[in-house]
Amino acid sequence: MKRDFITEYDLTTKEMAGIFRLTAELKKSKSRFSNHLKNKTVGLVFQKPSLRTRVSFEVGIRQLGGNCIYLGPDEINLGKRESTADVAQVLSRYLDVIVARVFSHQDVVGLAKHATIPVINGLCDLYHPCQAMTDVYSVLEKFGTLKNKTLAYIGDGNNVCHSLMLVCAKMGLNMTIATPVNYEPNEEILETARQLAHETGVSISVSHDPKRAVEGAHVIYSDVWVSMGQEDETQKRLKDFEGFQINGDLTSRANRNYIFMHCLPAHRGQEVTADVIDSKHSIIFDQAENRLHVQKAILMFLLDQKTKVKIRTKK
Ligand code: CP
Ligand code: NVA
Repeated sequence: MKRDFITEYDLTTKEMAGIFRLTAELKKSKSRFSNHLKNKTVGLVFQKPSLRTRVSFEVGIRQLGGNCIYLGPDEINLGKRESTADVAQVLSRYLDVIVARVFSHQDVVGLAKHATIPVINGLCDLYHPCQAMTDVYSVLEKFGTLKNKTLAYIGDGNNVCHSLMLVCAKMGLNMTIATPVNYEPNEEILETARQLAHETGVSISVSHDPKRAVEGAHVIYSDVWVSMGQEDETQKRLKDFEGFQINGDLTSRANRNYIFMHCLPAHRGQEVTADVIDSKHSIIFDQAENRLHVQKAILMFLLDQKTKVKIRTKK
């Protein structure tokens, strides 16, 4: 049966841990598994701009010996020129995997429902699962463990926040979230994340107090205040997010060895000051690099489920 990666619900904790182990191995050598996607073609269906997601997938697919085709916003016009169901079925006859970046979560769900090949969510309005997998992998890589660590997410309760809540809950990383009023994470996703967190023995708290959220935190995480597609709300958002900037005053409350993370693109002077994002605490470029390694592991995992070939990683 084909497997998709639309949200974090699609992977068990054990599978996530396996993907992290494979990631570490892929990171050691670019040429490892260089024939794994031989004769395979991955389509990148993107309705929004991208630097990291597009380039890291394209490079990763090539490093695994596969081909890729980028299909930008003007090429497919998903749901407008042609229905999502028809697009999914036609692409399934040519391709081996679809990576989709869409506006509405329902579009990527629709692609997965009608495609006979694996579909990977490369960001939608509700989730950014490849990003969150990479982020938690990066925390594990930096600290060697997630045990008794806390990630403070300050800002918008958006797609990145939702996916982080789910991966943190499944992998056992505490999370403290601080958002302005009316920008809290989606209640249903929060409830699910809290149930998952209960199973792994960690907690997810949500408040409107960034100072309390960063108290003793090992990771401070920030995302833009205006996500793609929300440009019309820019003026209101910049006002509503005042007081949620990550700056020296806020970071002084964190653990002294804290790391700063941001999915990027970043706006210095808005959600974070330059002295924080460009400081020695910041791991933003390691984090960006890890998108490549984690996504290679995700691609291998999904394709191997389909062909039932077992990936053997060295212990
Ligand atoms: N972080 C991230 O997904 O970046 P892009 O929007 O550039 O792909
Ligand atoms: N929340 C941001 C993430 C960008 C990678 C957005 O959706 O635009």
